[in-house]
Amino acid sequence: MTKGTAIITGASSGIGAVYADRLARRGYGIVPVARDRGRLTALAERLSTEHGVTVTPLPADLTRDGDRERVLTMLRDDQGLSLLVNCAGIGPKAPLLGSERAGLDSMLHLNVDVLHSLTVTAAQAFASRQRGAIINIASVVALMPERFNATYCASKAFVLAFTQAISTELKPHGVQVQAVLPGFTRTGLFERAGVDIAAIPPEMIMEAGDMVDASLAGFDRGEIVTIPSLADIQLWSDLENARLELAPYLSLKQPAARYATGTGSR
Ligand SMILES: NC(=O)c1ccc[n+]([C@@H]2O[C@H](COP(=O)([O-])OP(=O)(O)OC[C@H]3O[C@@H](n4cnc5c(N)ncnc54)[C@H](OP(=O)(O)O)[C@@H]3O)[C@@H](O)[C@H]2O)c1
Repeated sequence: MTKGTAIITGASSGIGAVYADRLARRGYGIVPVARDRGRLTALAERLSTEHGVTVTPLPADLTRDGDRERVLTMLRDDQGLSLLVNCAGIGPKAPLLGSERAGLDSMLHLNVDVLHSLTVTAAQAFASRQRGAIINIASVVALMPERFNATYCASKAFVLAFTQAISTELKPHGVQVQAVLPGFTRTGLFERAGVDIAAIPPEMIMEAGDMVDASLAGFDRGEIVTIPSLADIQLWSDLENARLELAPYLSLKQPAARYATGTGSR
C-alpha cells in the first residue's frame, strides 16, 4: 500500500516545513497549507525535485471561513489523504495582562478552533476509510500553565486533551493519533512574536529537525503523546497513572468530608 498524501498546515516555515520534508522523504505526497504562497511554491519545487513526490501547495488563511472550507472539503473528499499534521499556530507577544484581547482571541481561534475543525473532519473521513493518522502539534506548556501566556498554554492544553480523548475512539477504526509536545524549538515563531530567542538558555532550545525526527520516531512507536526532550518516559507514565487513579473519586453522590456544611441535602 502506498503512503498516500499528507496535508500539513503551517508548512510554509518552521516545524511544519520540516514535517513536509521528512514526510516527503518517507514517500508521502504533500499538500502544504499556509498563507505565504511564495514560500509554499518554493517548498513544493524543492521537495518534488529532491524526493520525487507530488507536492500540491494549498495557500489558505485558515482563520478565514472560505479558505478553511477549501481545506475541509479536501479532507472530506480526497480519498488519497492518509495523514493530517496540524502545525499552524501562533505564539503570544506578551503575558495575558499585557496583551490586546483581540490578539488572544485570534490566537485561540487558530490554535484551537481551526485545529478542532480540521481534526474532526479528518477523523470522520479517515474512520470511514478505515485508514489514516492525525498528528497535532501541542507544546510542553500544556503541562506547565503557570509558566507562560495563559491563553497560549490553555490552547495547547486543549490540543493535548482533545488528542488523548479521540485516540481511544479512533483506534478501532484504524486511525492513529499523536499529540506532540515540543519545548523551545528554533523556528521563526519567536521573531514573529517579538521574542528574542537569544534570551532563552541554549540548552533549552532544540533544532526543528531534531524535534520532528524524534516526534516521527514516537509516531512510528504508536505513541499517543510524544515529548521529544523527555529522556525518562517513566515520569510521563507516572503523571498519567496519577491522573487515572483519581477516576473513581471524581464523581460521587456525597461531597468530600472537607466540604461538609452540615446542612445535608436540604
Ligand atoms: N517553536 C517553538 O518553540 C514551539 C514550541 C512548542 C509548540 N510549537 C508549535 O508548533 C507549531 C509551529 O510553530 P513554529 O515554531 O514552526 O512557528 P512558525 O515558523 O511561525 O510556523 C507557524 C506556521 O503557521 C502558519 N500560519 C500562521 N497563521 C496561519 C493562518 N492564519 N493560516 C494558515 N497558516 C498559518 C505560518 O505560515 P504563514 O505565515 O505562511 O501563514 C507558519 O507556516 C505551532 O502550533 C506552535 O504553537 C512551537
